[in-house]
Amino acid sequence: MATSAHTPPVAPVPAELDAAMLRRAFGAYPTGVVAVGALRGTEPVGFAASSFVSISLEPPMVAVSVARTSATWPRLAEASVLGLSVLSHGQGTLCRRLASRDGDRFEGVAWRATPEGAVLIEDAALWLTARVSAVYDGGDHEIVLLELLTAELFSGVEPLVFHTSQFRELIPHG
Ligand SMILES: Cc1cc2nc3c(=O)[nH]c(=O)nc-3n(C[C@H](O)[C@H](O)[C@H](O)COP(=O)(O)O)c2cc1C
Repeated sequence: MATSAHTPPVAPVPAELDAAMLRRAFGAYPTGVVAVGALRGTEPVGFAASSFVSISLEPPMVAVSVARTSATWPRLAEASVLGLSVLSHGQGTLCRRLASRDGDRFEGVAWRATPEGAVLIEDAALWLTARVSAVYDGGDHEIVLLELLTAELFSGVEPLVFHTSQFRELIPHG
C-alpha cells in the first residue's frame, strides 16, 4: 500500500468536538490580536480579540467574533466609532491586561482617543477606525461586521502572533 507523503509524524488527537478540544483545535491556527476600544464618557473600554479578519476591499470591511457572554461588547456596541489596534510584538502582556476580568484593563496601557471616541493603542502595528455595519448569529458568538472609516499603518512594526495560547513573534522563513 502506498504511503502518503503527508502522513502526520504524530498521532492525531481524536476530534471530539467538546469545548476543550475545540479550543485546542482553533488554537492551532495562528492569528494576530486586535484591541477593540472606544470611550464611554471619558473612560476607555475595550477587549482583546484574535478573531479579527479582513472581509472586503469595496466597501472596506473587517469582522470580529464576540462572545455572547462578553460584558464589554454591549458597552462598545453603543459607541458610534470603534478603534481597532493590531497589537505589535512585545505587547503580549498588554494584550493579557486588555483581556483581564478584574482590575482596570487600561492601567499602564498607553492609548489615545480620536475626536470621534475611538480608542487606539500606542505602538500598535496598525490602527483602524470603524463603525458597526451588521451583526450576525455565530452560535455562542456574534459575528460583528465593521465598515472601516480610517486606516493608519505603521510599516516595519512587527505584529504580535497568538498561537496555541501563547504569544509569539514572526521569524523570516527560508
Ligand atoms: C489573545 C486573546 C484573544 C481573544 N480573542 C477574543 C475574541 O476574538 N472574541 C472574544 O469575544 N473574546 C476574545 N478574547 C477574550 C476577551 O479579550 C475578554 O477577555 C472577554 O471578552 C471577557 O471580557 P468581557 O466580559 O469584559 O468582554 C480574547 C482574549 C485573549 C487573551
